[in-house]
Amino acid sequence: MQFTRAVPDDAAELTRIAHAAKRHWGYPEEWIARWAPALTVTPEFIRTNPTVVARMETEPVGFAALTGLGRQLRLEHLWVLPAFMGRGIGRALFQEIALVGRAAGWSSVQVISDPHAEGFYLRLGARRVGEQISDPEGHGRTLPVLLVNLRPAG
Ligand SMILES: CC(C)(COP(=O)(O)OP(=O)(O)OC[C@H]1O[C@@H](n2cnc3c(N)ncnc32)[C@H](O)[C@@H]1OP(=O)(O)O)[C@@H](O)C(=O)NCCC(=O)NCCS
Repeated sequence: MQFTRAVPDDAAELTRIAHAAKRHWGYPEEWIARWAPALTVTPEFIRTNPTVVARMETEPVGFAALTGLGRQLRLEHLWVLPAFMGRGIGRALFQEIALVGRAAGWSSVQVISDPHAEGFYLRLGARRVGEQISDPEGHGRTLPVLLVNLRPAG
């Protein structure tokens, strides 16, 4: 597996990966449609935010991106194509994007996690620091707010 910095031309492919990964949790299509803005990566986003792509023989299989470098560093995206989940790619992507965050001087990163992904972040050493209510339309979803250390373990 290879990690490369995304280029603006990757935007459509990364958007496809984010949608496929989110669908993996079995959400209704109307929810996926409502979340489209959060699942869409634009060329402009890639130009302005550090975005790392995991590739298998040049084929993108996942990506991660950081935002808010000015105030609070946040992991805005971390998605792995369903066919490639469970092989350590999510962890490896996190480690790659952590290098970028550390190089910018940060020691931790905030994640507003999908509830299904919280266990993954806890495996990476995250701690829960709060909750955020999502879906004001009335589905009553509560998202864990996590903080993950960027320093290498050990
Ligand atoms: C969450 C996600 C990024 C994990 O990627 P992955 O490549 O499958 O994860 P890895 O194989 O690197 O797993 C690393 C460790 O976390 C564990 N893990 C992975 N997903 C987990 C989950 N959903 N719940 C609990 N533990 C999980 C693995 O068992 C592994 O444990 P280990 O340390 O004992 O080996 C991926 O499942 C995904 O893209 N999910 C859908 C989209 C999503 O919700 N992304 C997060 C947005 S906040």
